[in-house]
This record gives sequence, structure tokens and C-alpha cells, in this order.
Amino acid sequence: MADAPTVLKLVRTVPEEPARRPSTPARRLTRRVISVGGGKGGIGKSLISANLGIELARRGKRVVLVDADLGGANLHTTLGIDLPRRTLSDFIERRVVRIEDVVTATGIENLGLVSGALDHLDAANPRYAQKMRFLRHVQQMDVDYAILDLGAGTHANVLDFFLVSDHGVLVLVPEPTAVENAYRFVKAAFWRRLRNVASVYGYDPLLRSVMDGGSFRSPVELVASVSERDPDAGRNLARHLAAFRPRLIVNQARTPSDADVGQAVVAAWRKYFGLEMDLLGTISYEDDVWRAIRARRPLLVDRPEAGAARAFAGIADALLALDLTARTGVGS
Ligand SMILES: Nc1ncnc2c1ncn2[C@@H]1O[C@H](COP(=O)(O)OP(=O)(O)OP(=O)(O)O)[C@@H](O)[C@H]1O
Ligand SMILES: [Mg+2]
Repeated sequence: MADAPTVLKLVRTVPEEPARRPSTPARRLTRRVISVGGGKGGIGKSLISANLGIELARRGKRVVLVDADLGGANLHTTLGIDLPRRTLSDFIERRVVRIEDVVTATGIENLGLVSGALDHLDAANPRYAQKMRFLRHVQQMDVDYAILDLGAGTHANVLDFFLVSDHGVLVLVPEPTAVENAYRFVKAAFWRRLRNVASVYGYDPLLRSVMDGGSFRSPVELVASVSERDPDAGRNLARHLAAFRPRLIVNQARTPSDADVGQAVVAAWRKYFGLEMDLLGTISYEDDVWRAIRARRPLLVDRPEAGAARAFAGIADALLALDLTARTGVGS
């Protein structure tokens, strides 16, 4: 499992933030943090967060969904509930002490919801201290899974939420522009991770001089060059980068060949970046999905027999299997 203090230390060093002394690490309670992201809007991040949460909750896991789409929160709608009285704004504004104080019931056993911040301008771009407090509290909820539904794009906050997770789930729609966006997202997350690791271990000058000395087609080539100059640093970087292992879900597959896109993306990621991804599953495009959303009912509740709904069983199986192997995702 990712070690919370290390992960937060990695996030803590994002370059645009002022240097701070690390605080005493708190004990981690949340068993796993899952974040659901992807480059684009409207690709099914909220749909997947909500229904994966339901699937895990039905298997007896204690799950809290967190609407981390700061500024564009709508996860409550996907779940078919009114905007709760207490939202993330209350936590960010310190009107409540703990994130648990803004968890509301969803009507589904074992599944709670932290609704997104809607009324607070700063919430879309929280201050550094607010972001760190949020991440710390997410990791200290006494639940099995905290699932963060991320906003679109590659904003630093979105990447940091992704990087702090045990399972960073990349949602991909099999269309050329969406695939490009997904690569852009995962590359941005990867380079941010690399910069953070370099900063934590004091490799900045080394990395800069290696990068000034040549162009690199892949992170593997870069790490090889670092190793030539400093084998220990190279080994350490390689270890951190090998742990950067996004989970992939293909959504809105319409043809049999769309279903193969996931494997193709995993193969391309390995070939061009020398890195691994784990394919969790493929969800087909079905009218039942948007019909359920229009009915303001979660897919797994409204239309459990739909093919798209049944895909969540396989996705949850794959995720739980990864947990058994204790192989970390992006946040280690
Ligand atoms: N598998 C699918 N089959 C049919 N329609 C789908 C499917 N997945 C998503 N959609 C459609 O796409 C819409 C957007 O989904 P969702 O809100 O989950 O995307 P999102 O990535 O969270 O978007 P945003 O970035 O705006 O938050 C849904 O309302 C639904 O109409
Ligand atoms: Mg969304």
C-alpha cells in the first residue's frame, strides 16, 4: 500500500508551492484511495465513480465517494440525490473539523458521499494548505475505499489528487481526440510525479543537467542517462517510476474493435514510455446509461441488467485482485 506520509511529501514538493517543513505524519486509516480522471470532460468519470462505488459497497466494502470536481460538482445528481446540506465547502472553509462531518448518506448501504463545493469561489482552486488538509483527511477516513471523482483537464490540483491515489484510474473513450487527451493527462501526471520525486530526493540539479544534455524519447531513456551519472539516483527514480501504474477503463465502446483499444493503449504505453498500465475493463456505449442518468438514478440501481452495468462487476474484480497483490498504482 502507498505510504501516506511519503505520498503527501511528494505532493508537498510541487514546485510552485512554497517550501514548508513536513508536519508529523498522521496515521493512515483509509485502506485505498481511488481517483477517477482523464483528460476530457464528459467521458464518464462521474458515472464510473458512482457505479464503482455502488459495486464495491454492495460487496460489503465501506465506501465514501468524494466529489473532487472542484467547481463543477455534480456527483450527487449522478447518484440521484439532492445537493446535501453540508458539502465540501463546509470542510474547506473550516466550518466543520473533519471530512467525515460532511459525509452524507446516499440511500445505498455502505456508501457515503462528500458532495462537491458549489458555493465557494475559492473552492475551484483551493489554497495549498486547504488542498493538503483535504488530502490528509481523505487518507484518514475510516473506510475501505475513498473514491475521488476528478474534474476534467490537467490542472495541478487534478494531477495531485490523481498522484496521491493508490489506484489512479484513467478513463478513456475510444475516439482519437479523447485518446490524445488521455495520453496528455497521464503524461502530465507522470512528469509531475518525476519532478516531485526529484525534488524530494534533491535530484533537481542532476535531472536538469541530464535533460539539458540531450532529448529523451521516453522516461526509461531519461532514467538510463541518470543512472550513468549516479547509479543510486537512477535506481531510486526507476523504483518510483515503476510504481506509477495507472489503471485504465475504456468507456463508451461502440464496436468490437473499440473493445481492443484498451490493450492497444497498454501496449503503446509500454512501448513508447517503458511503463505499465493495468486494464480494469471496458464499458460499452448504451442508451440505458443516459436513460438512467436522465431518470436521476444510478445505472446499477436503475438498470442492473444493462451490459454497461454488468461491466462494473469485472472492473471491481480486477481492482480487488490488484489490492490482493498489494501492487501500488500511481501513489507510492
Ligand atoms: N457508457 C456510456 N453509454 C452511454 N452514454 C454514456 C456512457 N458514459 C457516459 N455517457 C454519457 O456521457 C455523459 C457524461 O458522463 P459523466 O458526467 O460521467 O462524464 P464526466 O467525465 O464526469 O464529465 P465532467 O468532466 O463534465 O464531469 C453522461 O451523462 C452520459 O449521457
Ligand atoms: Mg464528472
